[in-house]
Amino acid sequence: MSAPERAEASGRKRLGILLSGRGSNFVAIADAIADDRLPGAEIAVVISNKADAPGLAAARARNLNAVSIEARGRKRAEHDAEIIACLREHQVDLVCLAGYMRLLSQEFVAAFPQRILNIHPSLLPALPGLDAQQQALDYGVKVTGCTVHFVDEQLDHGIIILQKVVPVQDEDNADTLATRILQQEHIAYAEAIARVLSGQYRITGRRYLLDHAS
Ligand code: GRF
Repeated sequence: MSAPERAEASGRKRLGILLSGRGSNFVAIADAIADDRLPGAEIAVVISNKADAPGLAAARARNLNAVSIEARGRKRAEHDAEIIACLREHQVDLVCLAGYMRLLSQEFVAAFPQRILNIHPSLLPALPGLDAQQQALDYGVKVTGCTVHFVDEQLDHGIIILQKVVPVQDEDNADTLATRILQQEHIAYAEAIARVLSGQYRITGRRYLLDHAS
């Protein structure tokens, strides 16, 4: 059976995961599918811009399609075009960035409109960018957390789907704070994917609103 035939036959929504490193959010998503917490979903492909990403090895260990598309030495547009082609080849419905450490080109965002999600370890719009946990300590915030959002052309900017709050403790360093935020990320990402796949929401301005059954 070809990939498109398999996609059609399963009737499940197909996720494409993009990662650059450890891949704990990917594993959390895979576990949620295995535990039936994301019943309508399957992972079609895991793609990394780093051939040695531990997350890619974790995908192979789970017998998932794991593809390395190296970014080094290539123009963003060319690299993104190859990733888009790979996602299309695997009939991906929803793209999930899980520690993918590259900005997406406009063409990439336009290829999957409101179909790309990202997770960020702060309560956006506070503390965007790298090292959000250290930023939280440096600024002295008392609560931080994580945000799952749609991806647009700007860094950590797209419409927010859900957030989880994590209090900052006096004893925290960047590692302890990151560990507690990560626990919430693993819960939040699967929840957000389930919400988006349900299709039971609407977007008004920047607000993502759930449709409630009457
Ligand atoms: C997470 O903290 C995520 O919020 C950020 O990158 C990190 C990836 O961690 N975007 P992992 O590779 O999923 O373990």
